[in-house]
Amino acid sequence: MKVYATLGDGIEALQVKELPTPKVESEEVLVKMKSVSLNFRDLLVINGVASWKPVSQRIPVSAGVGEITSIGKNVSKWKVGDVVAGIFLPKWLEGNLTAEAYILPLGGPIADGVLAEYVVFNQQSIVKVPANLSNTEAATLPVAALTAWHAVARRSQVKDGETVLIQGTGGVSLFALQFAKAMGGKIIALSSSDEKLERVKALGASNTINYKKHADWDKKVLDLTDGRGVEHVIEVVGGENLNRSLNAVKIGGTISFIGLMAGLSAPINTYQFVSKNIRIHGIETGSRKMFEEMNRFIELHGINPVIDRVFSFIQIKDALKYLESGSHFGKVIIDF
Ligand SMILES: NC(=O)c1ccc[n+]([C@@H]2O[C@H](COP(=O)([O-])OP(=O)(O)OC[C@H]3O[C@@H](n4cnc5c(N)ncnc54)[C@H](OP(=O)(O)O)[C@@H]3O)[C@@H](O)[C@H]2O)c1
Repeated sequence: MKVYATLGDGIEALQVKELPTPKVESEEVLVKMKSVSLNFRDLLVINGVASWKPVSQRIPVSAGVGEITSIGKNVSKWKVGDVVAGIFLPKWLEGNLTAEAYILPLGGPIADGVLAEYVVFNQQSIVKVPANLSNTEAATLPVAALTAWHAVARRSQVKDGETVLIQGTGGVSLFALQFAKAMGGKIIALSSSDEKLERVKALGASNTINYKKHADWDKKVLDLTDGRGVEHVIEVVGGENLNRSLNAVKIGGTISFIGLMAGLSAPINTYQFVSKNIRIHGIETGSRKMFEEMNRFIELHGINPVIDRVFSFIQIKDALKYLESGSHFGKVIIDF
């Protein structure tokens, strides 16, 4: 089989390799990959940023779907031909995240990912994809959609009529918009591009703000909410952006903290945090149970992921550079 491998030394250094097709153990399934989606994290791994740099050569990319082509002798839940997605944290099946579950994230510094023609998964570490989605669409779910689901449905628990702020038009944010909208939320969306803001309006955002033109976007959010602020912020930028989110959130509101695009630490106005009596919850992707719950919601509400561009397996470097450029709106996919 063909795979791509990285040592975290940049997109150009990604190498295509021929490896033997893996064999399954008794509890495992072999999946012929059909589509994978790219996430911001894949750039951190491939570019070798901080602790994301692989310790030895690794197959990158965390999210994908494929068809089962063989099963181990103790596999009871799955059959050849089933279309499945691997879960990002293979041991986080349900409940709260624990140290035991937080190991070997797919496509990271110490575990291989899914940018390979065939991938072996434990039978516990996969889910059936929603019936209403194509393989290309379903490939978007294991990281971006699940993270947005964890934030919107589990932590923010968006209720009918509540206002939700989404930041930018990348993968996580557009899923957060779609989920929150389907729960009856009113969306305020930020983007660096007026053209992208027109597109988020078409997806159901009630109000939009260009954060490049309005660095004080938090004040605009307050204006749009009669000075009170939003009930929920889906924070994907991180760093000092959290201070603006603290300004923009209502007393008693929630910030689901997901992103780290602006760095891994920053001085934060802790007084705002206390005096507004808000909840800030760190979000790590999600469990298998959350993934299954999300898939039912996607089917029930007929949600289709927003796909920007589809590349082929051999165009991986172009696809990663495109993601890195930030021109995308929604997800970037590799179809095999
Ligand atoms: N904790 C987890 O489990 C988890 C899971 C998935 C992702 N993440 C994190 O979440 C973040 C987003 O990931 P992603 O895969 O959705 O990324 P992505 O698809 O690459 O989206 C990035 C988008 O963020 C927007 N953006 C950049 N700077 C911004 C700013 N200052 N204010 C508002 N928006 C800004 C841009 O939107 P415009 O072009 O519209 O301006 C950009 O297109 C990353 O930090 C990633 O590491 C965390």
